[in-house]
Amino acid sequence: MPQHTSDTHPDQPSGALDCRYLLAQTVAFHAGLMALEMFHRRDQLVIEFKGLQDMVSAADRDVETFIKEQVRAAFPGDGFLGEEGGVDFADAEFVWVVDPIDGTACFVNGMYSWCVSIAVLHHGVPVIGVVYDPNANDLFHARKGHGAFCGTKPIHVHPGASLKDGVLGVGTSFRVEVDDFIPFLDRLLRDGGMFVRNGSGALMITYVAAGRLIGYFEPHMNAWDALAGFVLVQEAGGCCNAFMENDGLMQGNPVIVANPAVWPRLAALVGKQSTEAVPAAVA
Ligand code: IPD
Ligand code: CA
Ligand code: CA
Repeated sequence: MPQHTSDTHPDQPSGALDCRYLLAQTVAFHAGLMALEMFHRRDQLVIEFKGLQDMVSAADRDVETFIKEQVRAAFPGDGFLGEEGGVDFADAEFVWVVDPIDGTACFVNGMYSWCVSIAVLHHGVPVIGVVYDPNANDLFHARKGHGAFCGTKPIHVHPGASLKDGVLGVGTSFRVEVDDFIPFLDRLLRDGGMFVRNGSGALMITYVAAGRLIGYFEPHMNAWDALAGFVLVQEAGGCCNAFMENDGLMQGNPVIVANPAVWPRLAALVGKQSTEAVPAAVA
């Protein structure tokens, strides 16, 4: 792939973003095909546990290495934060935030809800989000100020006026206490809402952008799980909590995203996190 340095685009942030937007889509697509090939021979993969219900395989590592090499070849000065490989140059003007396979538990167990998630930050602000689902061949992409798309088709958040009008995505992990999640389900159901969890938080946040889910809540996600989806949701007309606050890039944060009509009620049902959650800019 062609190499671009800050010398080639010193005064053209838009050109610099255009190039990275195109690369993020191309790399997500090829990384997805690489992951899909390994998914089809997953019985040969050795599965390791990083923690309780937290798996990793050679597929996660190899796909992240591929993405990192492509980014490094094109933009050697850019920063990179990946789930499997950690962080390089976190203070760079542009930082790529990558989950090579989100939904690893589904991937290794032969279920289809997993994806490649790539975000790009400019001066610490998420400006590009790409999520590729190779099983459905859905390439979701958004660039700040330019809308959100699935392939060439513009996408928009769900039109519902209340949580009763759609299905809410939820997720949790053993990074949080059980009590930070289960009471929320009780409140949601008593409010007439209904939930689904498919094992890929990045894909479910993306479904909010695509109007398939009315919103999504998870008490803690890492930046590589969430940031591509946040750009997609904002560009599709939705609201997000302030994920980057309190070093969200390195520490993670709760995720509360929804269409603008539903977001305040969802934040209220979340309860103790609701005071931290403020609507982000609506595209
Ligand atoms: C996980 C998935 C899961 C979410 C977790 C994530 P991984 O990512 O997105 O749906 O609930 O918070 O850690 O481990 O499959 O990349
Ligand atoms: Ca993940
Ligand atoms: Ca992952």
